[in-house]
Amino acid sequence: MPLMPPDPPPSLRDLLQRAEALLHETGLSKLSLQAEAEGLRYDIAVERTQPAFKTTEMDLQAALDAAHMTVWEWDVAGDKVRWSAGVEKLFGVAPGAFPGDFDAYRSLVFPDDLPAVQSALDAALEHNAPYSVEHRIRWPDGHIRWLHCHGIVLRDDRGRPRRMFGTVADVTERVRGEQALRDRLAASNARLLSAQEEERRRLARELHDHHCQQIVSLLLQLEMLRKTHPHLDALSPIVQDLKDLLQDIRYLVQGLHPPLLERQGLAAALQHHIEAWRARTGLSIRLTVAPVDRLSADQALCLFRVVQEALHNVVKHAEASEVAVDLRTTPTAVLLTIQDNGRGFDVDRVLSTAAGLGLLGMRERVEQQRGTLTFTSAPGHGTTVTARLPIN
Ligand SMILES: Nc1ncnc2c1ncn2[C@@H]1O[C@H](COP(=O)(O)OP(=O)(O)O)[C@@H](O)[C@H]1O
Ligand SMILES: [Mg+2]
Repeated sequence: MPLMPPDPPPSLRDLLQRAEALLHETGLSKLSLQAEAEGLRYDIAVERTQPAFKTTEMDLQAALDAAHMTVWEWDVAGDKVRWSAGVEKLFGVAPGAFPGDFDAYRSLVFPDDLPAVQSALDAALEHNAPYSVEHRIRWPDGHIRWLHCHGIVLRDDRGRPRRMFGTVADVTERVRGEQALRDRLAASNARLLSAQEEERRRLARELHDHHCQQIVSLLLQLEMLRKTHPHLDALSPIVQDLKDLLQDIRYLVQGLHPPLLERQGLAAALQHHIEAWRARTGLSIRLTVAPVDRLSADQALCLFRVVQEALHNVVKHAEASEVAVDLRTTPTAVLLTIQDNGRGFDVDRVLSTAAGLGLLGMRERVEQQRGTLTFTSAPGHGTTVTARLPIN
């Protein structure tokens, strides 16, 4: 049978007419057809990208696990917290055993660190400060771990906090590494300080036993010469110069290592040092000391060095007319203050630059004795240095 010639292809006009008739029959508008088509296109796109989404999510979870990190979302108004998978590992609980709400998290935070966590949250919620806080948690089995939390606050159009998003990372290894480094640094500083003290002691002994004795002997010989040769006028200024030199060296010896400190204690050593300081500087200085009998030799030396360095700074920088040194005790601590009425300085600025090595050295000494040292000062308002050392 001969083949029928195929129908000619419909013209565009035919197609449009047929489509319009169809639309009319089904009651569909052109617009709704368009919407159907859009929907279909979207479904196809999602279908195509779904595996990619899944891969990205898996990659993200692997990256979070590798970083010992979890992601959280806090619905502030509804007070609900959602965590990404693996949150239990971070809090040392079995899978599924972490209730996840804010109270469950809060109950694991190390009690001493709760105020810092709360104030970081308040600052983020109330003042839009970046939420970033590092704190300890106690796992149910007693382990202490360190967490670092970061977050941002999302607000509604009236500026009220709606949700918070963030991350929590276990940073225990890093924090412990830093602590070990700090301990090593402190131990090496302690060794340096003790070597420095030993060297000062040796120098002081040498100056005292050898040079001072030699000058005293020279002075005796000169005095005898003066007696046998009363006409030698040139001897008098030499004698005076030698006496001044002897006084200077004795002051140096006191500063290098005050022998009184070991023999008679801190109060006597301070008394002696301050009298010599007054004589040298001509400044008005007042010392108030309460009897302190529970200080170790190292603590006494530490406080003596703080007075020394602080008074050195008064002469060098303060332009003060009055200074007060005060040593008091409380049942648990000894308190030392050195206060001047000089020009003062911007403490934060100085401590954040390398300029404050003297101040930092003082603080290091005090911290080595498990104490604290604070500087209270402002330009034009004098300076107060306060050291507090614990005593038994
Ligand atoms: N009593 C003081 N009065 C005014 N400024 C002071 C006083 N003590 C310290 N400063 C300021 O702090 C800075 C740092 O002091 P310090 O660390 O002892 O270093 P240095 O004495 O070598 O400058 C000083 O340069 C000075 O500006
Ligand atoms: Mg100084």
